[in-house]
Amino acid sequence: MKVVLDMDPGIDDAMALLLTLNNSRLEILAVTTVSGNVNVDKATLNALKIIEAAGGRCGQAPVYRGAGRPLNKRRHPVYSEDIHGRNGLGNVDPSPRLRAKEEKTSAVDKLVELLSSHKKKEISIVATGPLTNIAMLLQREPSAAKKLNQLYIMGGIYDNGLTKGNVTKHAEFNFFCDPEAAKIVIDNAERKGLSIIASGLDITSTSACAIRNDELGMICSIRSKIADIACKILQYPLRNYSFFNLHDVFALFSLLYPEIFRTQRCRVRVYTSGRHRGKCVVSYGNGNVQVNRQVNSVRFNKYLLDGLA
Ligand code: RIB
Ligand code: CA
Repeated sequence: MKVVLDMDPGIDDAMALLLTLNNSRLEILAVTTVSGNVNVDKATLNALKIIEAAGGRCGQAPVYRGAGRPLNKRRHPVYSEDIHGRNGLGNVDPSPRLRAKEEKTSAVDKLVELLSSHKKKEISIVATGPLTNIAMLLQREPSAAKKLNQLYIMGGIYDNGLTKGNVTKHAEFNFFCDPEAAKIVIDNAERKGLSIIASGLDITSTSACAIRNDELGMICSIRSKIADIACKILQYPLRNYSFFNLHDVFALFSLLYPEIFRTQRCRVRVYTSGRHRGKCVVSYGNGNVQVNRQVNSVRFNKYLLDGLA
């Protein structure tokens, strides 16, 4: 499967990147970066560092810098260095003597180029940061909605207020950072044929899938190059919090293991302003957004450990 990862690494993004690098079923055409957990300079550097640290066949993935700020120029970037550390990888440097360089092409230019040089429905995107790059692609190339195979996102909350947001009580971080981009992407699913599978905070905060000290101990005992990187970057959040949710791994596992999720089709409306900024209002039963509602946590955890071995 040909895939593009669009991300704001960020520790959970980095975990999804490590699992992708280590999975022979996936061919990474591009890693595109976006401002989110950290600024886009750090996100781009972190993607390069994780890929180089993974090394060997795993260390083959070109990195393209994307948007450094939200679509709406009046908005300032929002970061979450409190959770991910100042450098975005738990203040760990996985590649102290980094040799790799980012590509010269911008993220959106590369996405346009990839879609024009591949057959329809050949490429899927796993987007685990604010959706700025994806929205810019859809604005520039309206045909992208139908050319893409699937867009797997981590973002939003889809249980109409049962799960509280992690920025405001209404909003999840990726949708809060760039609500205009989230609205454009969701509206493309509703009206332009874009096929989206969304994992929101309501499912990604499933307690049985969270990393606690026991799970960290299991990851650190795997002793593979990939698992050793994961072991190092997860130390920081688990020193500061009793658990850490691998939100972005849900978006990747929606692509790799769809059978472990129960999904529902729904119609989603994204708020972009005021105190409801980034909020999703959902009506189930029809609509064109597929939402992951439940996960088989035993299978999720097994695939996580197997994927790091
Ligand atoms: O709300 C969780 C999301 O915001 C995750 O993608 C995390 O990496 C941050 O980007
Ligand atoms: Ca992310």
